[in-house]
Amino acid sequence: MNEHETPVPVTVIGLGAMGKALAATFLAAGHPTTVWNRSQSKADSLVAGGAMRAATIIEAVTASPLVVACLLDYPVLHEILDPAGDALAGRTLMNLTNGTPDQARETAVWAAQRGAGYLDGGIMAVPPMIGQPEARVLYSGSRHVFDQYEHTLNRLSAAMYVGADPGLASLYDLALLSAMYGQFAGASHALALVGTEKADLTEFAASLLAPWLTATTVALPLLAQGNGTSTQAVEESVSPPDMQAVAIANIVTASNAQNVDKALLSHLAIPLRDLIGQSAHDRDLAGMVDLIKKPTE
Ligand SMILES: NC(=O)c1ccc[n+]([C@@H]2O[C@H](COP(=O)([O-])OP(=O)(O)OC[C@H]3O[C@@H](n4cnc5c(N)ncnc54)[C@H](OP(=O)(O)O)[C@@H]3O)[C@@H](O)[C@H]2O)c1
Repeated sequence: MNEHETPVPVTVIGLGAMGKALAATFLAAGHPTTVWNRSQSKADSLVAGGAMRAATIIEAVTASPLVVACLLDYPVLHEILDPAGDALAGRTLMNLTNGTPDQARETAVWAAQRGAGYLDGGIMAVPPMIGQPEARVLYSGSRHVFDQYEHTLNRLSAAMYVGADPGLASLYDLALLSAMYGQFAGASHALALVGTEKADLTEFAASLLAPWLTATTVALPLLAQGNGTSTQAVEESVSPPDMQAVAIANIVTASNAQNVDKALLSHLAIPLRDLIGQSAHDRDLAGMVDLIKKPTE
């Protein structure tokens, strides 16, 4: 079947907040869409819109050449799909369930043992963004499978292939999420600190916090450049770690004084303190990237 001419039939397994958005987007784009979920009522609105409800997991898997799974985690994925036995043979499993790189690699082997193609994906979007240009989904695994279904995958988002190792999409997904959670942690701490005084938090967030976070992204290329180059001296440090360590210590002291728990930020003091003693101590915060990587055995 040429996926550019005829919308490929798709099965979506898992109709939580994200799975429902995926299924609705395929449906709206004209793909014959079969759906399955543990709690069947979550399929009702999709079925009313033209989706087909599969009564069993085997019926769901065999309904389409492309089977999209979006579940809570990998143990749930296997709990649901293991009993489907060889029904996946000759089909493609596109797994958009959040997990670790090792779980993705193991599941790629598991799918291959059942004669199925496999793509692992990391969704960098929230459900309302699915089908919108700003959504992005990262894919890794078989390049052939990605090329075969790229047009269909682009229905959901800008599809981005990151490599043949099935674990890469998970790795990138978790890395991007770790950056997001770090940013949320810092922003939460900032709001808690300012909130201890009579301040307009909404105004603070809009006029100072958001622009500040945007402005600080200029430092990201510097962090990336420092990564892996710990033996190279950098000519000049504009923000030496000694200075940063004083700032972190002051944040901790001020937080204690303002009755704000320092847990979200004080962990930064340890690698910063270690950085000060390093030979590359003049390399800015970039040194922290190398510092937290444990040596491989
Ligand atoms: N929501 C987001 O903003 C977002 C963004 C990016 C990526 N994702 C990823 O998308 C995946 C799904 O997230 P979601 O937001 O859709 O989560 P969710 O709303 O909590 O849905 C979880 C799904 O897993 C199913 N499930 C959970 N435990 C189960 C069990 N023991 N047996 C059978 N089914 C079970 C649920 O079925 P029931 O309906 O029967 O409970 C539901 O289909 C996750 O891996 C998540 O990381 C979500």
